[in-house]
This record gives sequence, C-alpha cells and structure tokens, in this order.
Amino acid sequence: MSDSTKTPRSDGQATLEALLAEDRAFPPPPKFAAEANVSDPAIYQRAADDLEGFWADQARKLDWFEPWQTVLEWNLPFAKWFVGGKLNVSYNCLDRHVKAGQGDRVAFYWEGEPGDRKTITYAQLLDDVQRCANALKELGVRRGDRVTIYMPMIPELPTAMLACARIGAPHNVVFGGFSADALADRIDDSQSKIVITADGGFRRGKAAALKPQVDEAVARTGIVDTVIVARRTGEPVNMVDGRDLWWDDIVPRQAADCPPEAMDSEDMLYLLYTSGTTAKPKGILHTTGGYLTGMATTHRDVFDIKDDDIYWAAADIGWVTGHSYIVYGPLANGATGLMYEGTPDYPDPGRWWEIIERYKVTILYCAPTAIRAHMKWGPQYAARHDLSSLRLLGTVGEPINPEAWMWYHDHIGHGRCPIVDTWWQTETGMIMITPLPGITTTKPGSATKPFPGVDADIVDADGHSVPLGKAGYLVLRKPWPAMLRGIYGDPERYQATYWSRFPGAYFPGDGAKRDEDGDYWLMGRVDDVMNVSGHRLSTTEIESALVSDPRVAEAAVVGRPDELTGEAIFSFVILKSGVETTPALGEELRAHVAHKIGAIARPKTVMFTPDLPKTRSGKIMRRLLRDIASGRQLGDTTTLADAGVVETIREASAKSADEE
Ligand code: WTA
Repeated sequence: MSDSTKTPRSDGQATLEALLAEDRAFPPPPKFAAEANVSDPAIYQRAADDLEGFWADQARKLDWFEPWQTVLEWNLPFAKWFVGGKLNVSYNCLDRHVKAGQGDRVAFYWEGEPGDRKTITYAQLLDDVQRCANALKELGVRRGDRVTIYMPMIPELPTAMLACARIGAPHNVVFGGFSADALADRIDDSQSKIVITADGGFRRGKAAALKPQVDEAVARTGIVDTVIVARRTGEPVNMVDGRDLWWDDIVPRQAADCPPEAMDSEDMLYLLYTSGTTAKPKGILHTTGGYLTGMATTHRDVFDIKDDDIYWAAADIGWVTGHSYIVYGPLANGATGLMYEGTPDYPDPGRWWEIIERYKVTILYCAPTAIRAHMKWGPQYAARHDLSSLRLLGTVGEPINPEAWMWYHDHIGHGRCPIVDTWWQTETGMIMITPLPGITTTKPGSATKPFPGVDADIVDADGHSVPLGKAGYLVLRKPWPAMLRGIYGDPERYQATYWSRFPGAYFPGDGAKRDEDGDYWLMGRVDDVMNVSGHRLSTTEIESALVSDPRVAEAAVVGRPDELTGEAIFSFVILKSGVETTPALGEELRAHVAHKIGAIARPKTVMFTPDLPKTRSGKIMRRLLRDIASGRQLGDTTTLADAGVVETIREASAKSADEE
C-alpha cells in the first residue's frame, strides 16, 4: 500500500486552491436550526469526552433482545461493538415500528421507470420480508449462509435484503450494472449457493435483461444451486429446471410469519464488494449492532429526519449509499422513503423534479455527478416543477465543485435548503465528515466537520498532523461503530490496506485539507482508485481487464479530470507486436472492459502507445501519465500517442532513476 501512495496530486492542489478561494458561507437558516434534531454544538464535546457513552446512548434507541456487556473492545485494528448484545436488524427496521402502531406508515413509495407505482407500508413490507425469509429457509438457506442478490431497483430488492437479515444469512448485493464476470467473482469469493435476481429492469425506456448475466456467472462458478427470479420486465427468460425458481411461485405462498433470529451484535450483516488498488475487489464486511447504530444515528442527525419527511436517496441499492441510506438507516428510523427504478433523464431531464413534486419530497440526497448532469441539461426542467416541499439537500460519493454546489443550492433548494456534503466510504459504513444541518455553517465544496465521535486528522507522509491550511492524507484515529470489520476471507489485506500506511490510524485513501476554520475539503483519492460518477473503480482492475485481451501486451489506466463524471477513465495500451492499431480496435477494447467488469468501467479513451514511462524497478509512473492524459483535449475515444507524447514517455523512462 505505501508504495502506491502518492502525495496529493498536483491537479488536486490546483482544484484545492480554487476551492479555498471560495469564501461563501451559509449558516443554517434560523427556522431550520430552531427545529433541527441536533441544534446544540455540545454534541461534539460530549462525543469526544466519552466516545463509548455517546454511542451507547445511540444504541439504546434500538431494540435489543439481550443487552451488551461491553460497549467497545478495541484490539487495533479489530473492533467489536456492543459485545454480547443480541438483536435483529429486520426486527428493528420493521416489527418495532409495526408494534408501535406505525404499520400503516409508508416505508417506500416506489416508482418504476415506465411510470408504474407502488406504495409499501411498514406492515406490508414486514409481511413480504417474512414470506421471503420463509422461502429462503425452505430452500435450505441457514444462518451464516451468504446470499448473492443481483437486482434492479424494485421493491423485491430491499425485501430480499431484509429477509436475509431476518434469518441471519449475510447478503452480498451486486450492482445490476456489473457484468457476468464481475458477478461470478463476487459469487465465488462470497461462496454463495443462492442468487436472487430478476428477469431485468427498465433503463432509458428499454427492458435491460439481468438473467442472462446470472446464467453466465452461475455456469462459471459452479457453486450456485438455486436462483430465484423476480418478474419485472416480463421478457422471456431461460429458466433452468431444478435450479431456477420464480419469486412469484415460491415467495407469496409462504406464511407471513417468520420469527427473527437473535443475532449477535458482531454477526455479519452483509458483504459488499468494492474496488481497491489491486485487480481483486474486496469483500467489505459489515456486522449487525454497531452498523445499525451508526446508520440510525447518522441518518437521524445528518438528514434531520422527522415523521412527516419524504426522504429520497437517489442512488442504487447496489452501492453502499443504497445499503446504508435507502435501506437500513431510513427503515431503522421508521422514515418514509422513495425508490425510483430508472435514469434521471427518462423520458426527459425533468423526471426527478416531477417525482419530487408528485410525492412532495422533503429531503434529496444524490451524487455531484447527477447535479452536474442536471446543470448541463439546464435549470428549465427543474423550474417547471414545484419543488417547494424540499427542505434539505445532500451529496455523496465524490468531491462537489463549488459551481455544482451553488447550482444545487439556487436551482433546486431555491436558496432555502441547507446542503449536507457527506464524506464516507463503503468501508466506513456510515457518514463520517458532514455538516449537521442545524448547527454547521456550510461552504460550497467543503464536507465541513467530522461527525460527533469521529476522530479525523490530516497528516503528512510521516504521519504528523499538518497545521490548518495545509493539505495531506486524511486519517481516522478512533474506531466507530459502523466500521468495516474486515475484508472477507483476508484479515491480512484488511490490516495492510487500511492500517499500515500510518501506524495506529485508519487510512481511507483520500487526500484532504483543513482550512483556517478547521473545515475539511476532500481532494480525491491518493491511491490507484478512480472515482467515476461517484463510483469507485480500480485502475489495476481495468488494466487487467485490458490485458486479458490477447492483443494487448500492457496497459496503464489513469483518471483524467472530467467536467461531468468527476474523473474519466483514460487508458494507455501497448499492443503486442504485429497487431495493428485501428479505431475499431479501440472500440473493441472498450467493449471488452465493459464485458469484463461492467459498462461503468468502459474507458472513455484508449490511447495506443509504444511505451509506458516506468521507474527502474518497473513501476508505472502514473503521475506522468495523468499529466499526459489531462493535458490533451481529446474528443474521440481512440487515439494514437503522437510524437510529442512518445518523446515525453521515453524521456521519463530514461530518467526514471531520478524518480526512485
Ligand atoms: C469519495 C461512497 C469527497 C472518496 C459513499 C471516498 C467523497 C470514496 C465524498 C468512497 C465526498 C465519497 N467528498 N469525496 N462527500 N464521498 N467520496 O466506497 O474518495 O463508493 O474514499 O462510498 O468516494 O466511495 P464508496
């Protein structure tokens, strides 16, 4: 890990300087502050003075079947929270509210892309979850068995997750945009014998099939014996006898009564694979009591959630944002959420705003990429709709540029809604750096302050804190309840990836700076991970996908700043001798990567080059490649390195000894 850690990049520095010239500040509107769930800044001191007491108070708001004996056991880097406590996540998300007389409350308003709608109450969802849980049991799924879920954004997806949680079978949700290969890797690594999927989902007005990818993946892994298929598109699908079952044939006929398993606080709730700096995705492992405590607390305090809110996290459940802030946080708090199946621009770019008007959405949480796309389409779409129900806005997934922040503030929030820019990761499980909307003065582009109890710092390469105003590496020094408990099946990698770069501290892989007020400004990844449209992609993973094409000798992938997607994937490719470079080949390689990983990983640009700049020890000099990639105005998707670039690359390779 330390080898691949670069100093925060030069392009990041330039962006940062621009950001720090940003002097607009927005204190919470007085009325908002007066009514906010958290309005006393003493919360920060209280959590800092007594971390365990602070989190224990939060955990007590959940229902425990048996109390914990110890709040925290910390054997760096291994944490256990609420040790000895027993609870069930689905019970806390559903039964608890129904028992309190809230069965008729809406859990989800769901809208399909074609415009079909469903309203699902807590009582209904509890019913569905119990039936689904009984179906899983009938199929032989037992406590501890991993269940892979590969679905579009339909109500069966959270139902399946909660059913797993009910019987103590950890789920492994794989984003529906991943390819068959990526799915197969995740099934294999998690050793799932069962896959829950759908015939497909709707995207941009078309039925996009999912089942063929499952068939291909299952054929590759050989360990799956059961596939449950929910019907969504109604398109014909291939059903394998003895292996594949329709959801409708097995779930609805079950009894709507399935007692929740009493899970240990530290039992695994789910695995979620994410990209790291190697070609192999990491199965991030989350457990039960601490995770749910972190979700309920942050969701309540950061989003200021109230009984009458209509809360919309416009994300896909296949990513951690959906796990934590569409499913577990909101349901733990008995909130009313919205789920939308499709793309923001179908049938036109007004779709989101129409949805907000229809359901009177009060809180919107989305990625900066989406905001930039809306900026590009123009404010006229939002202007056609009544957005006066909105009272709070949020962003997640990547740094937000001040222009996008201001556009969101002015055109969507109409200057009235605080914006919470929330920094966190799949690994952290919960929001870690964020405004508290009733307390914090926000600044366009800054995620502001660590959440109460989160002990963040910014350090130099030697691990020393840097003064205010300086940039460095973000680290977290104290455990938090929703932190990952490890990488599935690989405790050494857990230690090496997160806890070895700066001894005693968790290193998330991000560069950051604190301004004179102590506010945090995130500067992007400092490792070989890219952030494209708020999605994490590993440069190495894409490189190995490229090299798996028999015509490719070597490949290097870097992120190039992109106005819309934050970063865009730029790949340098050396072909094997005798292979001719043609634009068609560039297209084929792009398609090959999409096939290996998923459409999100398709390189925007393929540049053929005869050489790659390397250090004497053979390490690719990515900083130089990034400079080359960012310095060029490239409209097309395939290019040939021109003489100048080749020269730069050759010179750099020759001088590489100096760089080591
Ligand atoms: C980046 C998504 C700046 C960061 C929840 C992190 C952000 C990675 C922000 C995690 C933000 C996330 N400002 N950067 N508000 N939020 N990131 O695991 O680089 O998909 O390490 O989790 O996204 O991505 P992941």
